[in-house]
Amino acid sequence: MTERTQTRQTQAGTGLGFGALFSKHVISARYVAGAWSGLEVRDFEDLRFSPAAMVMHYGQAIFEGLKAFRATDSDEVLIFRAADCARRFDRSAARMAMPPLPAGMFLDAVRTLVGVDVAEVPSVPGSSLYIRPVMFADEPSLAVRPSTEFSFLVLASPVDSFFASGRTMIDAYAQSSHIRAALGGTGDVKCSGNYAGAMAAKADAQRHDCDEVLWLDAREHHYVEEFGAMNCFVVRGSGERAELITPPLAGTILPGHTRATVITLAGRRGLTVLQEPIELGQVLDDGGPVSEVFACGTAAGVAPVHRILTDTGRERIIGDQPGPLTAQLAADYVAVTHGQLEPEPDWIIRI
Ligand code: PLP
Ligand code: COI
Repeated sequence: MTERTQTRQTQAGTGLGFGALFSKHVISARYVAGAWSGLEVRDFEDLRFSPAAMVMHYGQAIFEGLKAFRATDSDEVLIFRAADCARRFDRSAARMAMPPLPAGMFLDAVRTLVGVDVAEVPSVPGSSLYIRPVMFADEPSLAVRPSTEFSFLVLASPVDSFFASGRTMIDAYAQSSHIRAALGGTGDVKCSGNYAGAMAAKADAQRHDCDEVLWLDAREHHYVEEFGAMNCFVVRGSGERAELITPPLAGTILPGHTRATVITLAGRRGLTVLQEPIELGQVLDDGGPVSEVFACGTAAGVAPVHRILTDTGRERIIGDQPGPLTAQLAADYVAVTHGQLEPEPDWIIRI
């Protein structure tokens, strides 16, 4: 193990941030000559690759993100929505001309890693073990075609706050000079290239003291799509007549599991949830019907939006406190991930 790797590992604690510290093990498998090897448990340490490994030239790579939480009222560790991640990983692989994993391998790998590194699942409220499965092309070749060799790895990172600013309400920067995804592209799968193409916009957001990019539709820059690493919800109206709205899954946004979870939890509370296009203009309208905005994703959880700034110079303060529905759904999300609210079948694996 290199010194760098060693010093970056940690025991569970506070002030973890996101993705800077890693648990002790990695699960791995390789795909060569048309077949996957079995899974191996390895120490977390640097890997060796050919300088010609295809991923470094053509970016053929996909990943997933899921979390293991300590249950509030038992000794169990709960892995949230792993089966959904396995299905999305398969979809991403197919879109990127990568081989599917054998049935059950994704879940076996996740279960095995959480089992061997269970001591590193943090217990402080707001913390969890973030699990990162990844697959990438490592055939040594500069030929421009799908690779014939791949590595599958699952690593994990004890985390708390996703946002580097440490803010609990986030500021978002709406982009109209870059786009994230267009119909027929890769916006609805989790390939690494989606994030690479978004880094310039993220840097722009950071320069404007914003936590996240708010992506708009590619054609007109008129409709809200999603945040850089989260889906988007708005609340229209208030009180009895409040409606929750999120953009439809029309091929350019990532079908988030937190989005799906929020829709289910909102339904349980009897809230109206609409999946329909959201006009940026309505969201920015101070006197308009949009009363709350929140982002949601595995890494970030449910994150209320404080302010939206656009690259055309418009700004709206949504609120200095989380709105009532946002707060309710954020609390429900924490409760269901920590075993305090009944999950749907298939949502939780217990370790
Ligand atoms: N949208 C993007 C672009 C993301 O990267 C993520 C995070 O994975 C999400 C949405 C939310 O997805 P999920 O809730 O499955 O984590
Ligand atoms: C997640 O929420 O799991 C993500 O993958 C988003 C981001 C960290 C890339």
